[in-house]
Amino acid sequence: MQKKVIVTRQWPEAVEQALSEKYDTTFNTSDQPFSSEKLQHALCNADAVLTTVTDKLDAAVFNSTGLTAQIIGNYGVGVSHIDLAAATANNITVTNTPDVLSECTADIAMTLMLMVHRRAAEGEREIRKGSWTGWRPTHMIGSRMSGKTLGIIGFGRIGREMAKRAHAGFGMPIIAYNRSTIDPSALAAVNATQVDSIESLLSQADVVSLHCPGGQTNQHLINAERLALMKPTAFIINTARGEVIDETALVQALSNRQIAGAGLDVFEKEPTLTAGLTDLDNAVLLPHLGSSTRETREEMGFRVLKNIDEYFSHSEPSDRVHP
Ligand code: DGY
Repeated sequence: MQKKVIVTRQWPEAVEQALSEKYDTTFNTSDQPFSSEKLQHALCNADAVLTTVTDKLDAAVFNSTGLTAQIIGNYGVGVSHIDLAAATANNITVTNTPDVLSECTADIAMTLMLMVHRRAAEGEREIRKGSWTGWRPTHMIGSRMSGKTLGIIGFGRIGREMAKRAHAGFGMPIIAYNRSTIDPSALAAVNATQVDSIESLLSQADVVSLHCPGGQTNQHLINAERLALMKPTAFIINTARGEVIDETALVQALSNRQIAGAGLDVFEKEPTLTAGLTDLDNAVLLPHLGSSTRETREEMGFRVLKNIDEYFSHSEPSDRVHP
């Protein structure tokens, strides 16, 4: 008998097609996010539930005697929306989709970094408003990005892709903070130096890019005190998870010009934004587009498919996430 698979959001057509050829699938044709009740219902009616970042799988969702799911195949690399301990306590395996989105996420971080240095969003808005009066030497002066020091927090797959781009394309000296010691050859490849504290990185960097996981451990890792350590000319880029930055403190730091600017692809309460953020010209805001290319979104889906295939054939999926 085919395994029953429930998919919580609409996925690329090619992946849904491939899933339906192997499994007894239920797709979300309306693409409305699942409520907690619907998530619990899925966990009690399927062998595999294929979730994503918009599904809040907290302990309460797992609190049922009728759970049938054996695997949660998460579409995305970040799993801070899943209570991993509760999943494990209920013998549910969780997998994610690393590697396939590292390049595109680094590309979006680079996009934000360039946009905020060169005031690209402001310039676009000026043209669309019809208020551009023509070239002049003092018009919309930004900051040079080439050669500036990039501070990377979290030197995993995405952080390293970011470092590659900054080093090879923009000649940027790189400093990195990571909880564990970084392999010296990975540092040498991009001529980077590991620093031993976030404080030291924040005070030295001209631009800080966040590539650490979200979740409780890194909640408000960047808070008011830490923002105060940054140079007044420095920028911060977040393509990791919204909760890593205290968004209220960031709005304050940006409106006081305590730091020069921010480029954000993720937000604390997506899709709701903290009051004041959209009023700031020195904030470039994107709607969580990190992995959103046709190629990557398909690869993410096929990676989930590979994980559930592996799970159902021999129980050990390649991308099992441990609590
Ligand atoms: C990821 O992979 O974590 C993306 O942010 C989408 O969830």
